[in-house]
Amino acid sequence: MKSSIITTLLLEWYKKNKRDLPWRKTHDPYNILVSEVMLQQTQVSRVLIKYREFLSTFPTINDLAKASPAQVITTWKGLGYNRRALFLKKTAQAIVGEHNGTFPKDIKDLCALPGIGDYTARAVLSFAFKQPVPMMDTNHRRFYQRVFVGTETKKDKELLGIAEEVLPKKDAYDFNQALMDFGSLICTTKSPSCDSCPLQKHCKAYPAILTLPKKTSTTKKKVPFKETDRFVRGRIIDHLRHQKMLTQPEAIKMFKQFKKERIIKIINFLQKDQLIDIIDGRIHLPD
Ligand code: ADE
Repeated sequence: MKSSIITTLLLEWYKKNKRDLPWRKTHDPYNILVSEVMLQQTQVSRVLIKYREFLSTFPTINDLAKASPAQVITTWKGLGYNRRALFLKKTAQAIVGEHNGTFPKDIKDLCALPGIGDYTARAVLSFAFKQPVPMMDTNHRRFYQRVFVGTETKKDKELLGIAEEVLPKKDAYDFNQALMDFGSLICTTKSPSCDSCPLQKHCKAYPAILTLPKKTSTTKKKVPFKETDRFVRGRIIDHLRHQKMLTQPEAIKMFKQFKKERIIKIINFLQKDQLIDIIDGRIHLPD
């Protein structure tokens, strides 16, 4: 494996093309965790706005641990997938309550925190504690898969093994960050820019990657967002952010286009997920 040439080329590319992102100016584990949880399912451009706002509302892990779920869900507005906000708050409580307010520096202890999976744990170890650990988000996965394997698909376990070998231990932080930008700007999912790729000569997937049949979703018809449960969940939470309270009949009225039974089921799921409380028939964000 010519991995040292590849890592050198990639780090050189990163030096010239690095995006200026606020979470790259800190090694504070709390700030890193907030950015990573936000970035899991939300675009960088939107996270840029919300990251600053969230951290000025909850500047420290103690502030987040002490806040009510309602406050945290309200501040999460605009990011979607609101359960992430609750997990983040529960993780803050666990770190304050069980780890004296200090982040664990071990992958097993990090993964034991609410909502923290292998990816997020590795991101904290790499970006906050500068430990030389590989990580595997969609950008990293595409890079290891294409450059070192080719077009046949490998499982994460195998790709992590490759990543362990490839990761330049002295520049692990920059390398992991570089792959985020490389995957967003060059080695994209649908139309990779192989013509401007510094690794073209070394890539196992080139040139086959350019002529692979595109994955099409012919069998599954795409449901318009406004007809999904996620849309309804988001609208109910958003209503509660502003109006504080809602009754079930009011919620049913809000979505006249849907069957009553469907709205009731969605409300029950929101309650099960602890995103809402229902007291005396009144729905509100949890205090
Ligand atoms: N997505 C997840 N983590 C990221 C990071 N550190 N920089 C850019 N995009 C990301």
